[in-house]
Amino acid sequence: MAETLTLPQTQNRQVIYDSLIPQIASLVAGEPDLIANLANITAALKEAFGFFWVGFYLRKENQLVLGPFQGPIACTRIAFDKGVCGAAYTRQETILVPDVDQFPGHIACNSASKSEVVVPVFDRDGNVTMVLDVDSDQLNDFSEIDAKELEKIAGLIMTF
Ligand code: SME
Repeated sequence: MAETLTLPQTQNRQVIYDSLIPQIASLVAGEPDLIANLANITAALKEAFGFFWVGFYLRKENQLVLGPFQGPIACTRIAFDKGVCGAAYTRQETILVPDVDQFPGHIACNSASKSEVVVPVFDRDGNVTMVLDVDSDQLNDFSEIDAKELEKIAGLIMTF
């Protein structure tokens, strides 16, 4: 397994994703442990993009529970009908939020968070088992490029 990421010197996110995704693919292909892989994915995304907060919330019984993440401490439990994470889980689709103050029910784990994108992760049967939540301290920081590329990363996760 590669011990370090090799990243292009650019601010162009598409170029960075194009370099990063094959590296994440080979990282997770060599490791069967789910939590180890989620931890490395959050670290890789933080290192590549410097996102304010990036992490997973895992479905556990009837709620979403905080999993591996990078960034400030965060809410530990989110109901399925709460927040952007709950909405992405329930709708089973990616949700881009340019301004969290305009999203009804947004959960402010940290007041510095201004925009976010949340991507569902599916198991082989098509059920959502977790969500990948990426938050920015800038308004309108995410585009369809992030949504599409983060969905590719979600698709690399061998889920239970
Ligand atoms: N933004 C999320 C809550 C989790 S934190 O931001 C880490 C939401 O409203 O679902």
